Amino acid sequence: MVAGVGRPLSSGQPAAILNAVLDAGINYIDTAVDYGYAEEHIGRHIAHRRSEFYLASKCGCPLDNAGFQPEERTRFGVPLPRFHDYSRESIVNACHQSLRRMRTDYLDIVQFHFSPAREVLEQEGAIETLQDLQRQGKIRYLGCSSILPNIFDHIAMDVFDVLQVPYSILQPEHSEAIERAASAGLGIVIRGGVARGQPGAGQGTAQVWDRWEQAELDDLLEGMTATEFLLRATISNPHVHTTIVGTLNPAHLQENVAAVRQGPLSATVIEEAKRRLDFVPDEQ
Ligand SMILES: NC(=O)c1ccc[n+]([C@@H]2O[C@H](COP(=O)([O-])OP(=O)(O)OC[C@H]3O[C@@H](n4cnc5c(N)ncnc54)[C@H](OP(=O)(O)O)[C@@H]3O)[C@@H](O)[C@H]2O)c1
Repeated sequence: MVAGVGRPLSSGQPAAILNAVLDAGINYIDTAVDYGYAEEHIGRHIAHRRSEFYLASKCGCPLDNAGFQPEERTRFGVPLPRFHDYSRESIVNACHQSLRRMRTDYLDIVQFHFSPAREVLEQEGAIETLQDLQRQGKIRYLGCSSILPNIFDHIAMDVFDVLQVPYSILQPEHSEAIERAASAGLGIVIRGGVARGQPGAGQGTAQVWDRWEQAELDDLLEGMTATEFLLRATISNPHVHTTIVGTLNPAHLQENVAAVRQGPLSATVIEEAKRRLDFVPDEQ
């Protein structure tokens, strides 16, 4: 793997987890140019199952990220190189590289990575670039990985089919934007829906999960794990269409699928959890 991007993988791990995801009936795969060898793994291990899943990647990322140092990546170990480039050349080359790496003729969704400002996208003609690729049949839908404050501009631009947004009841700061985007007819893809898993069980941080403890949510669990509760709380948001959950662990995958099959939490439980969290200060 590329140094500094993601966790180390044993040789059988990518094939096992990618195929287990599809075997479990999950039909949406999110990746990015700058997620190390992720696109290559998808191409090598599940390209032959392409009809079983929607494939979303990102653009604006440096095509060769091998030279980036770990300190140039931020936010919980997720690769976020600073030097994103939304020029026509960068986007077209990224799209062609993604198609080649993932051994496919089309990408269902291409999202601008890293929530670029509207001014940047307009100055670069970046929307027109994606629309050209769309006309050529190389991509089907336009998306953006959007966060505050630019997300409201992205909604107002009225050009995107899909926004990918971070959200859970522990980190609800994008709730209003999600509601507004969904009301405008955009598809909402959630990341961070399990807040990286409860510390101890997953990779979540005390900084985020302290809010769970302070709100004393354990007595709402009724036999669920906290991570399961959080995932079911995320899918309870009526404006959420797809939730992408990262995992390398087949047991976690099975737990998550089982949790989603249980469906959303009841409105009463969700309201009570939110009521308790309202009394807890935001993460520091
Ligand atoms: N800017 C962007 O566009 C951007 C940024 C971040 C992420 N993303 C996308 O969103 C996806 C998800 O985001 P994320 O990984 O930050 O957030 P997440 O899905 O909330 O958290 C994933 C983490 O949760 C752990 N986990 C999953 N299920 C668990 C379970 N049942 N019990 C305990 N731990 C569990 C996983 O660890 P284990 O492997 O140990 O299970 C993994 O480290 C990424 O894979 C990526 O595709 C996009």
